Amino acid sequence: MAFKIGPLLLLLTVLFSFQTAHSQLISNFDSCTALNDYYIGVVEPLVGPNGLTSSNAYTNTRSPPRKNGKFYPKRPGGPAGLPFRRILRDPKRVKFNNITEGIDTDTEDEDADGPVAGTDFSTTNVQVRGVDEPDIIKTDGKRVFTITGTTFSHVRVLDDGASGRRVGRLELPTYPEEMLIQGDYILVIGTVYEYKRPVYVRYKTDPSSGESATVVYQINVSRPEPRLVSTLYLEGRYVKSREVEGVARLVLSFNPLDSIWLYYPAGNWLPTYRLEQNGGVQTGVYATCGEVYYSPKVFSGFNLLTVVTLPVGGKLTPGSSATVMSDAETIYATKSAMYVTTSEFRFGDLSDDNVRWGANYRTSIHKFGLSDDGASYIASGAVTGSVINQFAMHEYQGTFYIATTDGASWWSNRDLTESKVTAFEPNEKTKTLKKVGEVGNLGLGERIFSVRYIRDTAYIVTFREVDPLYVLDLSNPKKLKVLGELKIPGFSSYLHPVAPGRILGVGQDATNTGMLLGAKVSLFDVSDKKNPKELSVWSLRGSYSNAEWDHRAFLYWKQQGVAVMPISVYTGSRTFTGAVVLEISDTRIKERGRVTHNIERSYTPNIRRNAIIGRTNLWSMSDEILQVNDINTLKKVKAQVKITS
Ligand SMILES: *[C@@H]1O[C@H](CO)[C@@H](O)[C@H](O)[C@H]1NC(C)=O
Ligand SMILES: *[C@@H]1O[C@H](CO)[C@@H](O)[C@H](O)[C@H]1NC(C)=O
Repeated sequence: MAFKIGPLLLLLTVLFSFQTAHSQLISNFDSCTALNDYYIGVVEPLVGPNGLTSSNAYTNTRSPPRKNGKFYPKRPGGPAGLPFRRILRDPKRVKFNNITEGIDTDTEDEDADGPVAGTDFSTTNVQVRGVDEPDIIKTDGKRVFTITGTTFSHVRVLDDGASGRRVGRLELPTYPEEMLIQGDYILVIGTVYEYKRPVYVRYKTDPSSGESATVVYQINVSRPEPRLVSTLYLEGRYVKSREVEGVARLVLSFNPLDSIWLYYPAGNWLPTYRLEQNGGVQTGVYATCGEVYYSPKVFSGFNLLTVVTLPVGGKLTPGSSATVMSDAETIYATKSAMYVTTSEFRFGDLSDDNVRWGANYRTSIHKFGLSDDGASYIASGAVTGSVINQFAMHEYQGTFYIATTDGASWWSNRDLTESKVTAFEPNEKTKTLKKVGEVGNLGLGERIFSVRYIRDTAYIVTFREVDPLYVLDLSNPKKLKVLGELKIPGFSSYLHPVAPGRILGVGQDATNTGMLLGAKVSLFDVSDKKNPKELSVWSLRGSYSNAEWDHRAFLYWKQQGVAVMPISVYTGSRTFTGAVVLEISDTRIKERGRVTHNIERSYTPNIRRNAIIGRTNLWSMSDEILQVNDINTLKKVKAQVKITS
């Protein structure tokens, strides 16, 4: 009956069951057979005359399983009418190496007289202190490492930061994305497109071409010439990573359908890895069946989201981690917890322009606990609306806060949008994130552009035509309150605390009707939370800054009270490409000057990052060079170091 009515009924089933989806206990499978049966129960109805192709698999990925229903077609298709394979041996559980092994724990003592982060040199502009984020440049004050194109460069800092020289480089086989560092070891992370999964279940036809996978290059930088120690391939899409005290956590999203594109859904549903080291190869799975968590009531797609733990300087055998059957989009991490969100977009149910999307557009939240032994799954929850980025999330004294914008389709009826902050507390027994408080009605008809939390206070910018900056009190999670609101033209898409009671907003200036004018930096006085004020503004017509959408491009050097960010002017003939240095006092913003990369090329490369090394030297990075300027005068170029191949 059900299969005849087809998609419509499935849709209705989803709608009805959706309401209860996240209040359900999330179970894990006790064996691989159970996981296999579950997947096959879901997949069988989706197999068409041409087998399991992306068109019939993906459009129905949110459909509930119909285990007791009839299959469509009755016998699975495929070129040879091959039967489904249900037999799957439980792969050996990967024993997790003690992650402290191989890490030089004496580094800090050794460096007792060496440069100090935050005093002598700057580090990546991270959201949570002590939780490092991956980037394209990393420094320890004595060395600078960069990735541009496929080139990894090791630059030695000379003359107390006034100069530098490239002492080694390594050409990587593929384009990397970003890197993490601990002592003499670096993990460079990227994507490869030629991964061949180790075959656990024999395919009738060998998948000849490779598929995309995450790659981690582990590089030893204890000598000038960087050396590749090992290469780790992890099946799945790289979402993001974090690093705390030498332990890296990579969030991966694996869609098993990518690896079983063949005409029948036989195969191992688990993500595999391949570790190459010293000429040897080790393969395995990095998630195990017994650790896959899913919602028994509602099928949430084929994707497996896994938090993989890797020691930056140790053996890269992926520590086994908890896995949740879900996609993954945005991550937020503290030293002991990681939250991964994904949007649950019920397309097809959102046609009515005059209804707030509400439950049809939700964000799922999965919480993982982080320990030296790896990651463990703790709980899940959901909230209506969407999340702008990692800064929308916060954990404070065990409570999790998330800012979301709920609404109707932005293009049809924008008046229905509104934003809110929701507080959750985990219940480890039921594995749910329980909503304990909420404050809404922020920015009706607008959407969130930026969020920053400082302990028990949230600062939220929404925008449509003007920019309201809201100040929220989170001190009682059950009674979240809006304390103050400030309306100004333009918006901030990144907020950076610069001093007690002072926040800098980086964004765009706009007319009163919301037309964008150019990059803008505002200094906000939030010392009176009920009455936030804009004290000073710097803006530049027809310009934008990468810092508006990538916080790692923004640098605030506390020692001098200066902010540095890339800037590009795109109007008329007065074009400029480089970085601007702003002096931030207690009451005003003043431009100190700008730097640009003049190289013997027909173009001026964009400055992508800025760093301070040796207290008073500004190091700016483009895809071509590292350039050193005196942060005080900015005029003279002290050094240029090539970082390309
Ligand atoms: C890991 O190694 C460190 C240092 O050798 C040791 O102190 C710690 O107890 C070990 N942890 C486990 C779980 O074996
Ligand atoms: C890294 O290089 C140093 C210096 O050559 C060497 O002593 C060390 O064993 C290397 N580490 C690894 C994991 O290869």
